[in-house]
Amino acid sequence: MSGAPLRTWRPAHRPEARDRRKLFDGVRDRAPPHFNQLWYIDAFAGTGFRTIKHVERRENLLEAAEPQRIEQRRGSAQIALGVKPRFDFTVFIDAKPSHAAALMDLRAKNPQRHIEVVNSDANQALRSIVEANSWASTRAVLFLDPYGMEVEWQTLEAVASTKAIDVWFLFPLSGLYLSIGLQI
Ligand SMILES: C[S@@+](CC[C@H](N)C(=O)[O-])C[C@H]1O[C@@H](n2cnc3c(N)ncnc32)[C@H](O)[C@@H]1O
Repeated sequence: MSGAPLRTWRPAHRPEARDRRKLFDGVRDRAPPHFNQLWYIDAFAGTGFRTIKHVERRENLLEAAEPQRIEQRRGSAQIALGVKPRFDFTVFIDAKPSHAAALMDLRAKNPQRHIEVVNSDANQALRSIVEANSWASTRAVLFLDPYGMEVEWQTLEAVASTKAIDVWFLFPLSGLYLSIGLQI
């Protein structure tokens, strides 16, 4: 069985929800035909919602005034559940107990789906998932969306060793600059 190479996706900017959906939609086309299962692993899954704060805008020559407002959009976990064809198995990982509880609510609202919620450090959880599965006939998409530099190199090595997992990594460049002492 030939495995799909590990690919790291590095966007120039944080993609909007519709761009993320397009990426997820293309997954099945890019995966090799000879696999039985396609999994989605969201290692920094959040709550299923993203809260966007729009700051107040005063009236100017071109635009009317806008009050401050809070908008709720779908987060990566909800977007992934909307992908068609569906992923066969979905793993949501988040270290924060309240976020894991929100993900469990999301799982409860989708009883027909095969979803696992893991409340733990992403590195530990990912290494366990890699070790516990054979990857002979399974392919997966791993979405990494950390706040900072939480992803350990050994975790990426473990993921790469499967030759079966595509990685989409929203890489926090600010964390890299800070760690090498540069200012942005
Ligand atoms: C940028 S947010 C994720 C947003 C989410 N992908 C979305 O689109 O809604 C990062 C998440 O990582 C979680 N987190 C932080 N450190 C973690 C770690 N070491 N392991 C797992 N989750 C972690 C935080 O609790 C937070 O929910």
